[in-house]
Amino acid sequence: MKASITLTVNGNTHTVDVDPSMPLLYVLRNHLELNGPKYGCGLAQCGSCMVLLDGKAVPSCLLRIDDVKNLKVTTLEGLLRQDGGLHPVQEAFVQQQAAQCGFCLNGMVISAVALLSENKSPDENAIRTNLQRVLCRCGAQSRVIKAVKQASHTLTSKAKQGQE
Ligand code: FES
Ligand code: FES
Repeated sequence: MKASITLTVNGNTHTVDVDPSMPLLYVLRNHLELNGPKYGCGLAQCGSCMVLLDGKAVPSCLLRIDDVKNLKVTTLEGLLRQDGGLHPVQEAFVQQQAAQCGFCLNGMVISAVALLSENKSPDENAIRTNLQRVLCRCGAQSRVIKAVKQASHTLTSKAKQGQE
């Protein structure tokens, strides 16, 4: 049975009329037209559907919409700055050519943002550990690691300058 569910996504409030057991990913893509999160395995195993839930990176393909209505959801689209510029992690992925096929990219970027919000200077081991939940089949992993390191440097120097 459908229900009226209100949720906060990328700072905006939305009300959708859906089955409360519908996965968050379906609501994002099919109702809110937020196509950054991708459908890969549908089993919370590949990471392509990652979103930030109160700042933590989680797969959205098995999350019931009813269980997230009081939490803040941020998708890839919500990472853009207010002036429309890219988030430092997105910028670094472009500059390091870590954005390859675009399918796992969503999970890589979201996971990197979550990691850097907790630890602005992760070592390579921490980067690997945090991003290993996202499966990439294209061999872009070494460039992804470089991109996360670059974003880490950017965020660290912005923090020193008091910009973040
Ligand atoms: S589609 Fe959600 S983890 Fe694979
Ligand atoms: S860049 Fe990740 S699967 Fe292709």
